[in-house]
Order: sequence, then C-alpha cells, then structure tokens
Amino acid sequence: MDEHLNNDKIKPLRIGIAGLGTVGAALVLMLEKNAKQIQRKHGRMVKVVAVCARSRSRDRGIDISGFAWHDDPVALAKDENVDLFVELIGGEDGPALASVKAALEAGKPVVTANKALLAKHGVDLAALAEKSGVHMGFEAAVAGGIPVIKTLREGLGAASVTRVYGILNGTCNYILTRMGNEDISFADCLKDAQALGYAEADPTFDVEGFDTAHKLAILTSLCFQCKIAADEVFVEGITAITQEDIKVAAELGYAIKLLGIAKRSEKGIEQRVHPTFVPASSAVARVDNVLNAIILETDHVSELMLSGPGAGGSATAASVLADILDIARGQIIPPLGMPTAELSDYKRAPMQSHKGGYYIRLDVLDVPGALAAITSRLGENNISLESVIQRPDIDIDASGISNSSEAGKTRTLVLITQDTLEASLRKALDQVADDGHTIGAPQVIRIESF
Ligand code: HSE
Repeated sequence: MDEHLNNDKIKPLRIGIAGLGTVGAALVLMLEKNAKQIQRKHGRMVKVVAVCARSRSRDRGIDISGFAWHDDPVALAKDENVDLFVELIGGEDGPALASVKAALEAGKPVVTANKALLAKHGVDLAALAEKSGVHMGFEAAVAGGIPVIKTLREGLGAASVTRVYGILNGTCNYILTRMGNEDISFADCLKDAQALGYAEADPTFDVEGFDTAHKLAILTSLCFQCKIAADEVFVEGITAITQEDIKVAAELGYAIKLLGIAKRSEKGIEQRVHPTFVPASSAVARVDNVLNAIILETDHVSELMLSGPGAGGSATAASVLADILDIARGQIIPPLGMPTAELSDYKRAPMQSHKGGYYIRLDVLDVPGALAAITSRLGENNISLESVIQRPDIDIDASGISNSSEAGKTRTLVLITQDTLEASLRKALDQVADDGHTIGAPQVIRIESF
C-alpha cells in the first residue's frame, strides 16, 4: 500500500484564511473537494481551521460553520491553531500588511495573492520570511492560474532572462477582446468583467494599468534579481482606447493588447505598461479574453511562453493551493528567488530613451497645408513614417467634441512611424500641437514587432 495513504505520523497542516471573496470561497471549496487526493498525493492532510472576513453571515456558497471565526485578521494570523496563514484580503497596507507581518513574525509561513501588497512591501516581507525561516508563496499574485513565479524561481534557475513581457490583467484583456469582436462599449465590457469576478475591488486598478504594473514589478524582480520597484513603472491604461483605434489596428494587421514589458538595457531596466499594437500574427495577439500570457526571453532556453487564465476564483485559488502544497511538503526558499540581501537596487532606464514604432491618431483641421506641416515636424525630429491614413471628415464644435456644428471640419489622420526615440516623438508632437492644426490631444500607442 502507498505509504502516503496511512501516514498518520504527519500532522495535518492547519490553514487560516483571511478574506473570503471570490478566491477565498473557491479555495475553501477546492480544499474540501480535493482533500483525499491532496493527502494521497502530498502525504499530508491540509485543512482549513479558521477564517476571517468582512461579514460572517454573507452567503458565499460555502459552509464556514466548522471553522473558528475571527473578526481581526491579525488575531487569525496569531491563532495558535493555525500553522499557515493565507492572506486574500487585498490592499497594499492596512489589515493585509499587518496580518502578513504578524504571521511571519510568529514564524508561520504565508501564502498571499496580494500583488499590491507585494509591489509595495514585497522585499521587506521576503526579508522577514527569510529571517523567520519560513516560506512566503505568492504564485496567485501574478497572472492568476499561471505558474510563472515557480517557473522563474525554480524552473529557470540556470537561465538568465533578457526580456519579459505579457498580458497580465484579465479584465483589460477581456475588455479589449470584446471591444474587438463586438460593437460593445467599454463600460458594458467592464461591468461583465466585474460580474465574472475578474476585476479588482476598485476596477480603476485594472483599467488604468496599475494592477499590471504591480505584477510586472514583481516579475522584474524575479527576472533581473533586483528590488521590486513598482513606483518606477511607466503606466498607461486602456481607458482612452476607442473603437476607432481597434478598427484601424485590425486594418493594419495588428491587435491592441495591454502589455507589461521589462527589459534590461545599458541604461538600466525599462519597465512599462501601456496599450500596445502587436502583430495579429504574433502569439501574444491570439491570447484573448481573460487569458494572460507571459513571454520570457532567456539566454539558454530562448523563448518561453506561458499562457492561461489570469483571473477568476478557481484559477487563482489553484495557484494559492499550489503554494500551500509546497509548504505542506516543507518548502522553504527565498521568496524572491535569491536572498533579499543579494538583490540589487533597481536602476530605471528613462522612458525617453525607449525606441520603437508608434501609432499616432490626430484630429486635424481640414485646411490646406495641415498635413504637410505635421509630417514636416516629424521629419525635422528624425521620424520616418511607415504609413499615413486619412479618414473621412468629422464635424466638430469648438470644444473638440464631434457633432454637426459649423465650428470646423477635421479629418482623422493616422500615422505609423518607423522606429523612433520616445523623446523625439514627444518633442515633435508638442510642436504639432503648438502649430495649431490639430484638435485635442493626440492618441499615441506604441508598436511592438514581436
Ligand atoms: N483584476 C485582476 C485581473 C485579477 O483582471 O487580472 C487577477 O489579478
């Protein structure tokens, strides 16, 4: 008989879960449903013994009557019947930080799905885990169900990453995919993403790109062995993307994706999050809906792409459970892949030195010489154009809002540049604005040619 089946000598691992939202409830169900399989496979029983959430009575589709209840997550973290603390509260400070610290200080391993917390305090918390000699797992914090943390920390031990990029937010990918496939508004897509449990409690974190930035900063640390520097990420969200941008992108053979990209250069490490034109034929362009993807470019393993569900209760809970099982088996490794004392300081490569192609959409007054003036400004700044598209007239009023007043007529002008320095592009666009042939701010979207 398999010795694991009757291994009574190993005590159950007793879990305390703080936060019973979509992920917490899915984790409780998953642990219940898979209890026997977990014990058979991992040789140890894992059971929830205590929980803490905002409301005790809310119907979550799970029975919590058998668990000890705590109103305070710090008390849960310190509960002597709890061996492992799972933090699913969310938020970069407050109760999440206090309870994770309390658990680590009490010498208990922690599993968290909280990317905002790690983006801000990850290095300090990892140092605390190291000092206490316990593990801190956070697989679920980046890209939901995709085991990218384990891949970077353990699987790719011998390879050196040169660039990491990907789709790290399920909500944004869901919205951009639906806007591309259906004539549906941004607001309706967001509502559906919230109903499906993909979005953050405050969805501006998703659509303004901050959630992606948090995840990217964590990946950057693991890829380049530097301290987490979420405040140093250049961030643009997807709220300004229009149906027109999506349609023009498709006509030109591109899809628009919100990407997080980090790479090492001579000037430092570039971390950026922004909507991106990617070739429709590229692998990343075909990652749709709530799926996430991470592409790791390395020296020895060349290119590795991991793709899977990036948000949602079960996918995220599965990553939380994977960390719990590692701890059940006795895993204790530096949470950020190497001891925190060995991590280098983050050195930011300035965004102005970024070089790449750009999509520029301008509302141009329909007057003689306007197009020539704009293209000559680009030429003066050493910017070569790949293509130029001019759209039919749009009537606009003096405030720049499209309608049918007599104030003026504009044409939509789309310019695709060849590789250009960000600094040159910004300078040229400032000059174009000063020349007064355009209405409103230009739409600028970076192009990557993966
Ligand atoms: N709000 C996040 C997303 C959840 O949409 O990807 C997973 O971190």
